Amino acid sequence: MPTLGVNIDHIATLRQARQTVEPDPVAAAVLAELAGADGITVHLREDRRHIQERDLRLLRQTVRTHLNLEMAATPSMVAIALEVRPDYVTLVPERREEVTTEGGLDVLNYGATVRSVVQELQSQGIPVSLFVDPQPQQLAAAAETTARWVELHTGTYANAAHAADQKRELDVLYRGSAIAQELGLRVNAGHGLTYWNTAPVAQISGMEELNIGHSIISRAVLVGLERAVREMKTLCVGQA
Ligand code: PXP
Repeated sequence: MPTLGVNIDHIATLRQARQTVEPDPVAAAVLAELAGADGITVHLREDRRHIQERDLRLLRQTVRTHLNLEMAATPSMVAIALEVRPDYVTLVPERREEVTTEGGLDVLNYGATVRSVVQELQSQGIPVSLFVDPQPQQLAAAAETTARWVELHTGTYANAAHAADQKRELDVLYRGSAIAQELGLRVNAGHGLTYWNTAPVAQISGMEELNIGHSIISRAVLVGLERAVREMKTLCVGQA
């Protein structure tokens, strides 16, 4: 069964909404690890809309499991990764206008750029995973870059509106995982996974890690709200 990498970007989204100091993703990472997270994932985006460099540097010091840095394949991000030294890097495509990562890396058409970033990071001891759509040609191109892992993009599966479409997309993930492993790649998966659609993906043979963020943070807000309100109410009315 796969391990769970908890993506804490949206703790930082909440903080940045007020440009304040809470909630702190560093504290969230500690709680996630205490609850059993096997890894902590953050995406340092070019526009710094959620995770900040300060978070990444502190997380490097505090994370006790492993730290997965999602980033674009750009020279400035490579420089940060080489300095901070996460346990592994996941290369993702990035567009400023997107709400979240919208699809996998196009390794087929940008293989040379991706390969040079993979080789630079891996030669400095930072293994690389490529976030790709579960398509055979993309997987073959990913293997050629010498990246250790692929992270299969589960977004199309997660967004499937009907059971038949979801089943078809699950089959695509099964096939993609098998092809990747035949090519010598290790396999992770993520994006859009929720409390309702994760279990079938976790059953895929050889799946190593699932990276899940938005759904966990969304549930945390709701399961924690009652207690938070009660604690503030106590402050308002005073202790009995
Ligand atoms: N994996 C990758 C490569 C991602 O870009 C993201 C979103 O940042 C995730 C996993 C987590 O996706 P979600 O927040 O939908 O669980």
